[in-house]
Amino acid sequence: MYKLNDRLKGFYCLRCGEEFNIADYFTGCSTCSSDGFPVSLAPYYRGNCQIKNDQKRMFRYGSFLPYTDFPSLGEGGTPLIQARRLAEKYNLNSLYIKNEFQNPTGSHKDRMSPFIVARALETNSNIITVASSGNAGASLAAYAASAGLECKVITQSNINPVWKRAIAATGAELIYTETSQGRWDYLKEKVEKEGWYPATNYITPPVGSNPFGVQGYKTIAYEIYEDLQGVMPDWVLVPASRGDMLWGIYQGFQDLQDIKKISKLPRLIAVEPIERIQKVLKGADYRSSFTGDYALTTSIGGNTVTYQAIEAINNTKGTAVSVQQKEVPANIKELSSHGLYLESSSATIIGALKKLLKQGVIVTSDRVVMIASSNGYKDFPE
Ligand SMILES: Cc1ncc(COP(=O)(O)O)c(C=O)c1O
Ligand SMILES: [Zn+2]
Repeated sequence: MYKLNDRLKGFYCLRCGEEFNIADYFTGCSTCSSDGFPVSLAPYYRGNCQIKNDQKRMFRYGSFLPYTDFPSLGEGGTPLIQARRLAEKYNLNSLYIKNEFQNPTGSHKDRMSPFIVARALETNSNIITVASSGNAGASLAAYAASAGLECKVITQSNINPVWKRAIAATGAELIYTETSQGRWDYLKEKVEKEGWYPATNYITPPVGSNPFGVQGYKTIAYEIYEDLQGVMPDWVLVPASRGDMLWGIYQGFQDLQDIKKISKLPRLIAVEPIERIQKVLKGADYRSSFTGDYALTTSIGGNTVTYQAIEAINNTKGTAVSVQQKEVPANIKELSSHGLYLESSSATIIGALKKLLKQGVIVTSDRVVMIASSNGYKDFPE
């Protein structure tokens, strides 16, 4: 059985700051929600959080996480590689790629799943569930299997067969809904009526994934800090959908600033397939629905944004950039020609970098980290 970190003191609302007891808040802040503003809660900790030098991978950062011990398949500790040839090509002094595709199921989602499983076990939940047509489903199914927990993946019949096979092989059940929204409606009903334990969001507009899980993404920030020996990047490019990873990385950097390991936060850049976050940064309501084509990059698709994504960008003075679908095949090819075969949603990082260099947002002297969130072996030809 997994035990909560005793430094964990409660949760707070990202928008109104109200504090809440330690519990599950799948639909975020009740006060903001009744005012019409869906927004997530995040945990806060007290006491002396420190990196444990005698531990490996994510266990090094246990004191910053909701559980100091959690089910593991060897996630985290992914390499930060120096992309010298790419840096030369784009006239950048330093360019790094954080290889999240080296996680056990080939994506960053493996940093989230251990905490969902730990929490489900601690709360005696018998069934764990996720609305996903891809990486989150494959990851949660694997971690549930490792812990012997029943897992239901709510998806659509057009799920890529590579993921379908990987999920089914774990023994998880795939449940198909007609529409993407239908996945969230189904999930909501099962969570509220039958007590299934959810990894992901199920309300519209969304708040983001389960906050216990999102905490796992903080470890990406700690690892970047350790690998760069404290000489922090100016920019971190993050492929984004609900903004879980953006928010997690931001919180990780914030933790490092709180314990005085870094003096300034790296600026976060959301990479998206259609203008969503960008429109909100220019004044659109974050609760709007945004349209556009994202068929080639469904992992970062969707028509909505979250409050947490906007906060992560505003709090780091970051920005957002979109990469059009027609650029995606060239993005995949370009990164592959540098040895990095990424899932289409993830390969957008190079398209984003090119755009920002052209706009003069990123300049030669900047230190840049790009998050390679998932490997290309999952992409199935349309
Ligand atoms: C390949 C890939 N990159 C990035 C993301 C980022 O998503 P989020 O912004 O919801 O953390 C996802 C999530 O589904 C993904 O599958
Ligand atoms: Zn609130």
